Amino acid sequence: MIPIARPLIGEEEKKAVIAVLESGRLAQGPRVQEFEEKFAALCGVKHGVATSSGTTALLTALLVHGIGPGDEVITTPFTFIASANSIRFTGARPVFVDIDESSYNIDPALIEEKITPRTKAILPVHLYGNPCDTERIMEVADRHELVVIEDACQAHGASIKGRKVGSYGTGCFSFYPTKNMTTAEGGMITTDDEEVAQRARLMRHHGQSQLYYHEAPGYNFRMTELQAALGLVQLEKLPEWTRKRIENAAYLTERLTNVITPRVKKRYVHVYHQYTIRVKGDRDEAVKKLAEGGIGARVYYPLPVHWQPFYRQQGFNDSLPVSERMSQEVLSLPVYPALTQEELDKIVSEASKL
Ligand SMILES: Cc1ncc(COP(=O)(O)O)c(C=O)c1O
Repeated sequence: MIPIARPLIGEEEKKAVIAVLESGRLAQGPRVQEFEEKFAALCGVKHGVATSSGTTALLTALLVHGIGPGDEVITTPFTFIASANSIRFTGARPVFVDIDESSYNIDPALIEEKITPRTKAILPVHLYGNPCDTERIMEVADRHELVVIEDACQAHGASIKGRKVGSYGTGCFSFYPTKNMTTAEGGMITTDDEEVAQRARLMRHHGQSQLYYHEAPGYNFRMTELQAALGLVQLEKLPEWTRKRIENAAYLTERLTNVITPRVKKRYVHVYHQYTIRVKGDRDEAVKKLAEGGIGARVYYPLPVHWQPFYRQQGFNDSLPVSERMSQEVLSLPVYPALTQEELDKIVSEASKL
């Protein structure tokens, strides 16, 4: 079976992790700081604040922007649950705006009608590694004085007209093993705003400014030196891996004429965390058929967030027809850089039968 994802861990990663183990310094230290600086540089921003996961990056970003009970945060229902759950955990209410069918990302034209006096922020997601229309979202946010927190957990290095995602609003990234680069678990907040970075650093470390002086409430959302050591090696490999993902995606798109392939806007760089298609017939049957042919296809995501049991129980009953339909139609094919030519051809051959 060709799996949907394959983390790439080489000798360099193993050596880097062993060096940390031998150093005796395991918790947050100089490697974390170096990783923050290098990741911030990748995004073209001044500050990176490493966290224990993408989820804690999102939660920290929301909290440092003062989001809490009584507030509303506009987001997409077509995403991994963490985007909405992090809003919920601040005590604020996620307000779902439907997506645009060509990008699977939040439709900027539908945002303004959902803004109320309680709206404090917009949390768009660059789903599958394809940038959402961040320029238009920033325009709406500026007009209504809203904070923007970009969920870039799937979009390391993606860009619009040369500007990296995670540099428009406050960016949040994940380094979960299936992501374009990994630290096993881990996350990062990116920002140009010194104050936001400072508050995020306090929040992730019990509000500690000097040893055992705590000037704010906070959590333990820290990254370890082991994770940062992995991340530093992976970060060096990311440009080549991204090039390969884009090349693999182009190879599939050129050959798959029977399905709807990903669409990318002009001057947008999609980094293909996922290569997502839509088939004409029954999607679940298509996934089964692909599995029988040895292709590990997956559905991201079979339920939009407002249809998840917890959200239903909480009374979310909006009608968001595009997200609802897409959740029935999409499926993702393997696209990662470690695919061999033979595997790519097998994916083409099996997917062409759908
Ligand atoms: C869109 C999106 N948001 C948030 C997250 C949460 O990241 P993590 O799993 O690192 O907590 C993920 C990753 O799983 C994701 O894909």
